Amino acid sequence: MNDRVTRRQFVQAAAAGLVVPAALAPVRSARAAAPLPRTLGRPFGSDEIKIGLIGCGGRGTGAAVQALNADPGCVLHAVGDVFPERIESSLRGIRGEMGDNASSKVKVDDDRRFLGFDAYQKVIASGVDVVLLTTPPHFRPIHLEAAVGAGKHIFCEKPMAVDSPGLRSVVASAAAAKEKGLSLVAGFCWRYGDAERAAFDQVNGGAVGDIVTVHTTYHTGTLSQRPRQPEWSDMEWQLRNWWHFTWLSGDHIVEQAVHSIDRLAWATGDRDPVRATALGGRQARTGAESGYVYDHFAVVYEYADGTRAFHTCRQIDGCPSDNTDYIYGTRGSCTVNGWTPLHVVKDLAGKTVWSYEGPRRDMYQNEHDVLFRSIRDGSAHNDGDRMCRSNLMAIMGRMAAYTGQTVTWEQAMNSTQDLSPPEYGWVSLPVPPVAIPGRTKLT
Ligand SMILES: NC(=O)c1ccc[n+]([C@@H]2O[C@H](COP(=O)([O-])OP(=O)(O)OC[C@H]3O[C@@H](n4cnc5c(N)ncnc54)[C@H](O)[C@@H]3O)[C@@H](O)[C@H]2O)c1
Repeated sequence: MNDRVTRRQFVQAAAAGLVVPAALAPVRSARAAAPLPRTLGRPFGSDEIKIGLIGCGGRGTGAAVQALNADPGCVLHAVGDVFPERIESSLRGIRGEMGDNASSKVKVDDDRRFLGFDAYQKVIASGVDVVLLTTPPHFRPIHLEAAVGAGKHIFCEKPMAVDSPGLRSVVASAAAAKEKGLSLVAGFCWRYGDAERAAFDQVNGGAVGDIVTVHTTYHTGTLSQRPRQPEWSDMEWQLRNWWHFTWLSGDHIVEQAVHSIDRLAWATGDRDPVRATALGGRQARTGAESGYVYDHFAVVYEYADGTRAFHTCRQIDGCPSDNTDYIYGTRGSCTVNGWTPLHVVKDLAGKTVWSYEGPRRDMYQNEHDVLFRSIRDGSAHNDGDRMCRSNLMAIMGRMAAYTGQTVTWEQAMNSTQDLSPPEYGWVSLPVPPVAIPGRTKLT
């Protein structure tokens, strides 16, 4: 329950005007209000780097393997989850990936396998140097705040928050990490892809001229279900199917398509949009087993200079998939698709003038290589600014679609809509109604 208090206190502080609500302003105000000793430039002092994993699911297991492979001194020291079988299957998976090195890299004694909603506190207090935050995103602001407070270096999966109060907390935590000289790498993995970096370098370097517009897509099939068991409480059912519940996932525009919104932000120079207008709904995924998330969104982001950028996402079976960034400029266009893969620049006549031919290393491994290099050399890599902007853009798109209203950047940042449940525990938890544009209020 302590984490509830933390979050409520934060919301109250924001409502009382103690927290400055603007994407980058809180970073500055947090610095000004609470200067912390800077430790930048201090190389890591020990050969061994102890890692704690919080959230032992698919991504957490992968991230742990990548962390262990990133530096010869990395060892997995502690793990935490709310379900015991996830801990065991994750450890099995990690050991399997480590092969002959498993016993020297995976040193998680029985008393460092923590279970429950407070497992994160125990992992953080277990003597780790680095934490990997890979639970469903609802919990990220709380976990991030605790990790930064305890002086840990962090790998933080996307998205970092599902609502504006959570996002403001993340902004403050990212700023505190910077002040403390802690490394903070965000799981916006495409920013670490070799081909994507080269392509966006082309775009940001002027290869297509001035940006006229951008359209990014994240069109996929629907999500899997874990059928409800009679012994499951509402909370257990929702947690085991977390991507169907907006309070846990943020809806798929925030949980999944945020990658494409992050690349939209990348293509437009990582600027705050002025406002967003969006359409969305659920047509193919309407049953109670699908919670209250939508299955499609279309968002228009408007910038101060009049530029409009577009994002569409869909999770409906039987429709073509697409995960492409279409970037149009005054001198040509750039198309980026990491799935096919395709990274090309064309001139206005449609002739290819650049295409990526270089190496394509594993972008997930690249993230951890950057994180652990920066821990070793004390350079305190910090993805805070851009991860918060892209995350808020996705929340803003959802708010605009759910309400049917045009939402300004300030409204998105100032929103007091807190999606948290009243308590954390194996309790009953009614499912909120599906949002109806024009009726659901902007708060
Ligand atoms: N960057 C990427 O490409 C990428 C890919 C997949 C997932 N992700 C992100 O990683 C995160 C996890 O996704 P996943 O696919 O691994 O989901 P998952 O369901 O496989 O894993 C989540 C784990 O967290 C545990 N958990 C839930 N609540 C917890 C709590 N309060 N404390 C501790 N553990 C808790 C769950 O039991 C589960 O084991 C999500 O934010 C997701 O968006 C990112």
